[in-house]
Amino acid sequence: MTPDLMKAGAQIRAEHEKIVAQKAVSGGASYGRVVTGELDVTHGAILYLDDITVSFDGFKALNALSLSISAGELRCIIGPNGAGKTTMMDVITGKTRPDAGKAFFGSTIDLLRLRENEIATIGIGRKFQKPTVFEHLTVFENLELALKTDHGVRASMFFRLTPTQLDRIGEVLTLIHLKEAAQRTAGLLSHGQKQWLEIGMLLMQDPKLLLLDEPVAGMTDEETERTAELFLSLEGSHSLVVVEHDMKFIGELTQGKPSKKVTVLHEGSVLAEGSLADVQANEKVVEVYLGR
Ligand SMILES: Nc1ncnc2c1ncn2[C@@H]1O[C@H](COP(=O)(O)OP(=O)(O)OP(=O)(O)O)[C@@H](O)[C@H]1O
Ligand SMILES: [Mg+2]
Repeated sequence: MTPDLMKAGAQIRAEHEKIVAQKAVSGGASYGRVVTGELDVTHGAILYLDDITVSFDGFKALNALSLSISAGELRCIIGPNGAGKTTMMDVITGKTRPDAGKAFFGSTIDLLRLRENEIATIGIGRKFQKPTVFEHLTVFENLELALKTDHGVRASMFFRLTPTQLDRIGEVLTLIHLKEAAQRTAGLLSHGQKQWLEIGMLLMQDPKLLLLDEPVAGMTDEETERTAELFLSLEGSHSLVVVEHDMKFIGELTQGKPSKKVTVLHEGSVLAEGSLADVQANEKVVEVYLGR
């Protein structure tokens, strides 16, 4: 693809993001005063859930769930099986529509007005538990492909990486500890490396908010530690919501920052929220989760 075409492509994409974001604010946002299509985090929150309820045949998987994540924050979410953690991510990404409540990305973008495919383009990246990399392609090609998802088949056929994009792939390869493995076929990677590659693919799309559902399940201890380092290096420049059962990993993510918040979900709503030490000392939390 020529530089001109690349530029045109980038413009089309920027326009698209603007249109999607405009759609989300048209009709006036009920939260926040600034009505603009841009992600607005001047109020501090990048994600705001208020009173979200999701029912499945009368059973409330989420029950008046309210949660606010600050821009640049790394928030750990824990809680027993069935607490509603994955359902919460389904609501944020538009996979499940709540029966009631509000969900905003920044103070102006109403997520409940957007479809799942639209939400994926406005800066929210989601990592499911099972890695879904292209096994027959190399690590590098997987990252390259992650750049192209919005360009369609024809654009992809003539796609050439710009120097900036090549640099970005290099940066991401370093971040995800796969620089040495760039030319390796993804199918030959360890489970942990595949997980990192998938996180790398998300990062290629430059998300502002990353949702990570049980990212270290099945990883070795060393891979788990490296994943904690990776997430800590993303904190600040990205906002991260990390759902995990692995308390050692949660400990690594919160180490040295006693004020960092951990949220405990139970039966579809927030049971406790505070520092890791606070929630670990909370009797209700011990009873329903940690003391099992
Ligand atoms: N599509 C669905 N239809 C019916 N019930 C559902 C559906 N999705 C989730 N549930 C139920 O909602 C509840 C919350 O499920 P969810 O998967 O969000 O829990 P979780 O906190 O992610 O649990 P885990 O730690 O096991 O992953 C569970 O009781 C689950 O069975
Ligand atoms: Mg789950």
